[in-house]
Amino acid sequence: MQPLSRRSALFLGGAGAVASVTGAAGLLWGQGTGAVFQAAGGQDLSEPQALHSADGHLQVKLSAAQGRVRVAGRDASVFSYNGSLPGPTLFLKAGDRVNVALENRLEGPTNLHVHGLHVSPEGNSDNVLVSVDPGTSFDYEYRLPAHHPPGVYWYHPHRHGSVADQIFGGLYGAIIVQDPQPVPVSRERVLVISDISLDGGGSIAAVSAMEKMMGREGSLILVNGQLNPELAARPGDRERWRIINACTARYLKLRLDGQFLQLLGVDSGRYQEPRYVEEVLLAPGNRADLLVTAAEGAAVLRTLPVDRGSIGSMMGGNNGGGQPPPGPDGTVLATLAVAGAPAAAVGPVPAQPAPRDLRTVAVTAHRELVFAMGMNSGAQGMGMGGGAGSGMMSFTINGRPFDPARVDTTVPVGAVEEWTLRNTSPMDHPVHLHVWPMQILEQAGRPVDTPVWQDVVNVQARSSVRVRVAFDDFTGKTVYHCHILDHEDNGMMGLIEAR
Ligand code: C2O
Ligand code: CU
Ligand code: CU
Repeated sequence: MQPLSRRSALFLGGAGAVASVTGAAGLLWGQGTGAVFQAAGGQDLSEPQALHSADGHLQVKLSAAQGRVRVAGRDASVFSYNGSLPGPTLFLKAGDRVNVALENRLEGPTNLHVHGLHVSPEGNSDNVLVSVDPGTSFDYEYRLPAHHPPGVYWYHPHRHGSVADQIFGGLYGAIIVQDPQPVPVSRERVLVISDISLDGGGSIAAVSAMEKMMGREGSLILVNGQLNPELAARPGDRERWRIINACTARYLKLRLDGQFLQLLGVDSGRYQEPRYVEEVLLAPGNRADLLVTAAEGAAVLRTLPVDRGSIGSMMGGNNGGGQPPPGPDGTVLATLAVAGAPAAAVGPVPAQPAPRDLRTVAVTAHRELVFAMGMNSGAQGMGMGGGAGSGMMSFTINGRPFDPARVDTTVPVGAVEEWTLRNTSPMDHPVHLHVWPMQILEQAGRPVDTPVWQDVVNVQARSSVRVRVAFDDFTGKTVYHCHILDHEDNGMMGLIEAR
């Protein structure tokens, strides 16, 4: 066997977790996804189409369909919005009105969720109980309040029972709510990281019941639909990367060695000051707003292995992940080449207002949500999603699988509540609440001493997290759920009503 060139070594890394375990020969010839390896990495990063609001308004049409799309450098038959993967990026401002005409050209029902936006969950706003049948359209309208926090958000389907399949198949796009006061940078980029598995014919690969219980992880990790794209910068450039973890179940632990990284924030809102970081951990659904100050040389954006637990002990010793773990160096996602004349310095990052801190606010109620997985003998526990876990494992919150006809939690508008999110299972669950972000007070037994706000909060296996939530501004029904979307589809979701 020929020794691998640096390019092919990087490329193999980019092709997925199997590379570091099976070695090149097994990878090239042994996998069902073989055709993908004709596709070289190393193309320039492409960015989704950018749509900007103007005069307080944006009108968008999103057409969800299955069809031929360029994925990982080859022709594939996947799902997409408007024929591109990811869909267009929506650039918004606080106070905007956004109209989205969603057209469903898929074979099954779908709908649309604007993940993280603080907008009404009722009517034709961010209402996840809407179902849009094949061959029909639905007109959404979102009104962002004037005080809406800046940040990185995203949109994706939320039709219970097919969320994992539709996102895994390619339905997602970025939403950026711009800062009132711009951060001076040399360049802004949007990096939507997703995973997918394609079969030899370029179609979305089938996913086993076991993979669904674990939470499926695709064999390809894509950045804006590409494998190991290249980014170019000059020494001293300060770039702003908006990174979205749109993977169905995969956690990302991102590194970019040799470069200076500062986090402006995670999910919505901003840290008061940028935070120097070496790694960024993003559970499924989380987003990072990252400043990269470029230093000469080539740097590899990689994701390192994350231990998110296992159902092996529950399933008789077989760790049902379906895939071997990546090696200690992880998987290559993209390559940054920094060369040329040094860039002119850009101005300082403007100070941000102090984030709200609910630790000093009177709490109106305490609640506990228990996230559990159990062996399941019959239909109980399947929820209306049915399918994957049937007769094998249940996914519940406070003992019950999701039922769209049952309100699990009622909160008065304006309440400030403290929630304990308790995970009794041997796997991590990234817990997401719609509409209202959560301030993390304590995670895995450690108090958080600065205000940290997120809308997806990881609750490690057999551990708990304490958060506070201010149920401001909106009435209506919405949901909280595990953002391992196979778990959500299998029932790990609850309905909350603010009134
Ligand atoms: Cu990203 Cu309920 O969703
Ligand atoms: Cu959401
Ligand atoms: Cu989960």
